[in-house]
Amino acid sequence: MDSDKKVTFQLLLTVGTAVIGSLQFGYNTGVINAPQKIIQSFYNETWFDRYGEPIPEASLTSLWSFSVAIFSVGGIFGSFSVGLFVNRFGRRNSMLIVNVLAFISAALMGFSKMAASWEMLIIGRFVVGLFSGLCTGFVPMYVGEVSPTALRGALGTLHQLGIVIGILIAQVFGLDVILGNADLWPFLLGFTFIPALLQCFLLPLCPESPRYLLINCNEENKAKSVLKKLRGTTDVSSDMQEMKEESRQMMREKKVTILELLSSPLYRQPLIVAIVLQLSQQLSGINAVFYFSTSIFETAGVAQPVYATIGAGVVNTAFTVVSLFLVERAGRRSLQLIGLLGMAVSAVLMTIAQALQVQVPWMSYMSIIAIFAFVAFFEIGPGPIPWFIVAELFSQGPRPSAIAVAGFCNWTANFIVGMCFQYVANLCGAYVFIIFTVLLLFFFVFTYFKVPETKGRTFEEIAAGFSRPAAAGVEKASPEELNSLGAGDSEL
Ligand SMILES: *[C@@H]1O[C@H](CO)[C@@H](O)[C@H](O)[C@H]1NC(C)=O
Repeated sequence: MDSDKKVTFQLLLTVGTAVIGSLQFGYNTGVINAPQKIIQSFYNETWFDRYGEPIPEASLTSLWSFSVAIFSVGGIFGSFSVGLFVNRFGRRNSMLIVNVLAFISAALMGFSKMAASWEMLIIGRFVVGLFSGLCTGFVPMYVGEVSPTALRGALGTLHQLGIVIGILIAQVFGLDVILGNADLWPFLLGFTFIPALLQCFLLPLCPESPRYLLINCNEENKAKSVLKKLRGTTDVSSDMQEMKEESRQMMREKKVTILELLSSPLYRQPLIVAIVLQLSQQLSGINAVFYFSTSIFETAGVAQPVYATIGAGVVNTAFTVVSLFLVERAGRRSLQLIGLLGMAVSAVLMTIAQALQVQVPWMSYMSIIAIFAFVAFFEIGPGPIPWFIVAELFSQGPRPSAIAVAGFCNWTANFIVGMCFQYVANLCGAYVFIIFTVLLLFFFVFTYFKVPETKGRTFEEIAAGFSRPAAAGVEKASPEELNSLGAGDSEL
């Protein structure tokens, strides 16, 4: 029992090395925020050199929005390709291989200024998006598979923490006294090669996932020796037993393809819930803050917008830690509701502050507080909850397909916000966050009426809750599904 909770050096090294991937995702999400003005003037100068005239405002907005948002297009492709890698090359080697993408993107972005080419920067953003999409698939899977059951939840949250720390590092490096200036910004973008290099040195010291070795490769002895190292004990029979049981369960439940998932009425309700919750994460406006907060603060009349951006990163990190404790105690549904409502109120405050900033000078402080609250409430609800819920709404069979569909919706919404925010902000000025307020209130109402509590309930219970109104769908279910639904009903 004791060895179950033991954190060995090997385990710490393995998990620590893996979450460098989460850090990369966060870093590249936050990195283009602070140097926006500087990179835009690089675009302007380059345009001038090529065409002999300053860049038109509209072209600059589209080029910039595209540079920001192309990251999420890469993310879409990346998150869809996770399955191609992990089962063929193994978890650890997949992580090692895709670092090539980090090096390529670092070179493209780092040399874009020298080559006077915004195309290189944009392609680099795409490649690093691809890399990030892959990382967000690999890291939680690998960490989950090397961790002992008792520590799986705690170590799993390091992925989320890695992301927000990555954002924070990017914001600090983006200060104009560090790298966020006209001379050094190529290093700011190119620095993504440093964590990649570090990971390339450390990954060979980490073992392949024992679950992959046992279930995918059928290498029982290798799996055992890896487990012994990770657990720091010679008796790993309970771990082996658990993995074998899991593998048996997987065989029992047929894998559901994405097409089957989308067409079966049995999954329609939980799928709609999963998708709307993913949308609530992205369309809440959080990435408008992480991509554009410096220019938002500037519009709000904040004197040192970059420091306010860093403040937002600190609040973000602090509340991620808070939410790690909350998620295990409070219900998912209530946290999601509190988070959405808090974000909506903060968005209203921010709008008021921006609208009144000319008449009332101290309103710029209110904008800062409103954005901080906005970020804090995000990390309490819509940040972590949507990911939890997808895995909890679906059992083994449909789960991988459900996660792929959810990931696709998430990255697509991320792209839409990245692409459109600057246009809409130019159009609506201070009132841009009204749009997010409306969306947030819609998501609040949807969550209130449609999202079930999943904490402490089995899949069968949750599925039974969904299928009661639409009994017709149940008739088409396979015998096992009928059984499991029946079992759920008898408990209600
Ligand atoms: C581009 O640069 C020129 C001068 O270098 C400046 O007058 C112009 O305002 C800039 N355009 C934009 C859209 O920033």
